[in-house]
Parts: sequence; C-alpha cells; structure tokens
Amino acid sequence: MTNHILIKNKIKNFNKKIKVASDKSISIRSILLASQAIGISKISNLLESEDVLNTLRTIKRLGINYKKSRNIYYIEGYGVNGFNITRNTQINAGNSGTLARLILGLLVKSKFKIKLIGDKSLSKRDFSRVIRPLRLFGANIKSKNNLLPIEIKGTQFLRPIKYNENIGSAQVKSCIIFSALNTPGITKINSKRSRNHTELMLKFLKYPIKIQNKGKNQIISVQGLNQFNAFNYNVPGDISSASFFIVLTLLSKKSQIIIENVNVNKSRMGIITILNKMGAGIKLRNKKVYNGEEIADLRIKSKKKLNSIICPSNLNSSAIDEFLIIFLVAAKAKGISKFKELGEMNKKESKRLDLAIKFLKLIGIKVNRYKNNVNIYGNPNLNLTGNFEMKNFLKDHRIFFLSCIAALTLGGKWKINNKDAINTSFPKFLKKLKYLGAKIN
Ligand code: S3P
Repeated sequence: MTNHILIKNKIKNFNKKIKVASDKSISIRSILLASQAIGISKISNLLESEDVLNTLRTIKRLGINYKKSRNIYYIEGYGVNGFNITRNTQINAGNSGTLARLILGLLVKSKFKIKLIGDKSLSKRDFSRVIRPLRLFGANIKSKNNLLPIEIKGTQFLRPIKYNENIGSAQVKSCIIFSALNTPGITKINSKRSRNHTELMLKFLKYPIKIQNKGKNQIISVQGLNQFNAFNYNVPGDISSASFFIVLTLLSKKSQIIIENVNVNKSRMGIITILNKMGAGIKLRNKKVYNGEEIADLRIKSKKKLNSIICPSNLNSSAIDEFLIIFLVAAKAKGISKFKELGEMNKKESKRLDLAIKFLKLIGIKVNRYKNNVNIYGNPNLNLTGNFEMKNFLKDHRIFFLSCIAALTLGGKWKINNKDAINTSFPKFLKKLKYLGAKIN
C-alpha cells in the first residue's frame, strides 16, 4: 500500500471556517485524571488520534474500563491509585512522550513491576528527566541508558520531594505532580514555566494544588493523598494543529480562515505572539473561559508582507511544537530572523532542529546555526519549482504537516512519505486541506 502523498499545485484562494483536531495535551490529561477520579467521568470531543488511543489502551491495561457512546467517552475511575494492576503488565505508549512520561507518575505506588515500551521514535528519547525525580520519590526503576523499555515498580514508602524543574518541560512537571498525588505530604516543584493544563485541570477538580509566581519560575505545591470526583470535560481545539492552517492562510494569496474553538491558554500562545510580531495580524474572537482554560476563535488573513523577528527565548516553551512552522514563515519574511536556545526541539518525536535546518536548505533558504541558535535569511520572493521528496523523518507528524504546508504555499512538485504520521495528532489533516481546496493525490 502506498503511504505517500503527491502535491503538485499551490492551493487556490479560500475563505472558510473550520475546526481543527482537539487538543492532544488536554485529551491525554483528561483520560489520565479520569482514571484517578472517583466515579464515571464523561469526556466529549476527545481527540481520536493514536497518542490518545494509546492512552485509553494504557488505562485499560491498568484495570480501568471505559466505553464510547455517541460522541462521549465514559471512563470509570476508583480514585487515586485505583488502578487494578496484575503481574507482568506491559504498556505501550506508541509515539507519545506525554503519555509515557505522565503515566510513570501514576505508577509510583504499583505493587507489581510494569514494563513501559514505545515505538522507534519514542525509544530514542531520553527518560532521565523523569527517572531522576521518580527515584527521589522512592520508585524503583530499571532502564538501560535512560531509554525505553523502562520497568517501574512502586513503593508503599513514598516520600514527598522538592524539585527544580529547569528544562521548562510540562511532561516532567506533570509526571512529578502525578507522583505527588500518591505521596503523603506536600511535594514542591520550582518550575520553569511550561504549559499548565495539568495544574488547571487539578484546580478545576478542586484538588489541593497551589501555584505561586517566583520571578520567571513558579512554585507548585501539591498535597498528596487527596481524592477527587469524576467530572465532565469538553476538549477544545489544539493550537498546535491550528498552527499549520494559520500559516497556510498567511502564506497563501487572498485567503481567509476562521478556526473555531481553539485553546488559547497563555502557556500555548507563543505562535500567535511570534507571528503577530512578524506582522501576521491574527485576531482572537469570542474569547471565553472554560474550566480554567481560555478558548477563542482565530481569524487569519493572507499577508503579502511579513517581517523577520528576533525571537525572545522566553517564548520558546509556549511555542515549542510550533517552531517548525514558524521557521517556514521566517523563510518567507523580509530580513533575518533569529531564534535562540532551541535545543529542546531535538528531543521531540524526531530531531526537529536538525531536520528543520535541512528542510530550509532543501527549499533554498540560507540558514546559520551556532549551537542551538538559528538565523534564517528570509526571501519574500521564495517560489519553488522542481521536485522535492520528504523521507527519513522518523514519521514525525509535525514534519509531515510542515512539508504539506510548504508544498501548498511555495510551489514545486512534492512527494511526501509516511502519510500515516497524521494519525499521531490530527487524523483529518488531509481532509481539512482538501476541504479548503488543496489538490492532494
Ligand atoms: C507536552 C509537552 C511538550 C510538547 C509535547 C506535549 C505535554 O513537551 O512538546 O508535544 O502535553 O505536556 P515537553 O514537556 O517535553 O517540553
């Protein structure tokens, strides 16, 4: 079966309203928290992508039942540490770093050893960032070189920890918060800022968690061994998925799009701040607050002129999954764009910083890299002819999406492999593009 697509034409002008895939971070967290709540939680608009389906399969393996009826997932929890774990359990996080890191936090009290595995990409990613704090709590962990497979066995003698989270990783922060739920006493995290969906959800569940600002950091205090009740949650759209349609519209001619019901949590808004600094003029409409999360419709219009940016590195964490597509805008902008300290990009589903630079060179853009800092020499007249093929990107969904948007806005004849990658986060991605008029074979 062929697993590639061909794009031979730019997209024609469009003027449409769309919805994008539901938020992946929130979908995964809502399932994991429902698995720890008392009673039956109801989650609607859950993202039905591979990362999220693997989360559902994982809680099932751990003894939590769920069913789907109409558009709602019903998940029956038995409280914190209410998993029913049997001997020789193996769980598979597939491609999902978020699932793998977060679930470990919920297993720190398990009676039996559990083996965690993942796909080829996840098996290359470093787990020392969570193994370290988990061991401080008292969990027993076996892993070779801090890579998957990992074996974890919990302990009845968990102790609360004080931890400096200085990567700015929401996965690490959330793993520690989840471990703290099982641990007596108060766990304190001095955390560099990162997406805060876990904290907001626990607050919404009235769990005793406290957040204090301390300079650029936050002190998060979690009081362990409290229970919370089942809940209802309606998952909003994912700004990371929206980002590809934002840039498609910006770089196309005479087009306009409204993307409805997108999560615009400040800790995720880096892309909007950055693109607006470049002159994108993205507008937020119908802003509202839902269970602590901010939601809005985004309105984007094509832009003939975009400027380069000197991107402040304090925006890095809030746009960490979006730099790939931001770089494409920088490639078309007037002037030299500068980005700093983006080493975390190389710790994602693929080595995204390395691949992004290769990609920019492939489309004829001059790039300078010094360590993890990148300068991109924009060319507003960039227009591609000739053939391009994308392969060997570890099936990274976001590299696939980037390639499609480049093909549809810059021209050239493109063969893009690993179409199945879209199932990780946005299974309807190609359908949405076709709805806007894209010709894709
Ligand atoms: C995520 C956090 C980010 C992000 C990932 C999803 C999350 O990773 O890149 O796609 O849901 O917590 P890090 O926490 O490792 O930066």
